[in-house]
Amino acid sequence: MWDYTEKVKEHFLNPRNVGTIEDADGVGEVGSIACGDALKLTFKLDENKKIKDARFQTFGCASAIASSSALTEMIKGLTLDEAEKITNEDIADYLGGLPKEKIHCSVMGMEALEKAISSYRGTPEKIVEGIEVCHCFGVTDIEIEKAVKEHNLKTLDEVTGYLKAGGGCGNCHDEIQSIIDKFIDGPKKSAVKLSGMTTLQKIRLIEETLEKEIKPALLKDGGDIELVDVDGTTVFVRLQGSCATCSRSKITLKNHVEAKLREKVVHNLVVEEVVDEARIC
Ligand code: FES
Repeated sequence: MWDYTEKVKEHFLNPRNVGTIEDADGVGEVGSIACGDALKLTFKLDENKKIKDARFQTFGCASAIASSSALTEMIKGLTLDEAEKITNEDIADYLGGLPKEKIHCSVMGMEALEKAISSYRGTPEKIVEGIEVCHCFGVTDIEIEKAVKEHNLKTLDEVTGYLKAGGGCGNCHDEIQSIIDKFIDGPKKSAVKLSGMTTLQKIRLIEETLEKEIKPALLKDGGDIELVDVDGTTVFVRLQGSCATCSRSKITLKNHVEAKLREKVVHNLVVEEVVDEARIC
């Protein structure tokens, strides 16, 4: 049983502002029922462009309902500029805190609010950057890195609690763990043994796999790849030739290079591209 605060329990048992506003000025929808959490937030502005009404419909657990209820109360009377400053931590604070496994419920509220404001302003929704790591919940490597760094997340459970990533089939657990390890371990270059291999053995196997299994396909398209460094389970490579300027290079790195190295070397290995300064403009 989760250790909910009295305020969470109270908002769950007596949620405020349930429903939708038919002629809403802003509408934001996040999550999906298939994923186990979904939230639709609508708001209406008054003549002074302040939020005069906000309503929600949530499919989810007690903390998702309490977070949505709290959010609608928090944004009433605010301008959109004020409302968009509300973070998920503000929602959790308003409720007296949320269990760390349930922080994603407040994140969902913040994201629904961002979408609702974007829909009113007609501005494009925030582009989600990075490569999708958790396919069950559509969470990318960059989103996980950002959450790990900014919220000092140290375990897979904490990442799942914050982003839901990893909370489904579990196929992404190794990759999430590798991202966490990058920040916990730092740039250490010791001779760590992985899967029974020394670092030297691992580097040799990586080089051999690059030469025999990866380079031939890239060379055919005028590209190439160079091993730059290996740090724990992270392999740093430099793309060359046509690969260096290809818009699909990130996909090549994940779907071809990383997948092949995982198959041949270590199952949880992560490939990172080293980009020369001259290429960053
Ligand atoms: S891919 Fe992440 S939980 Fe299924």
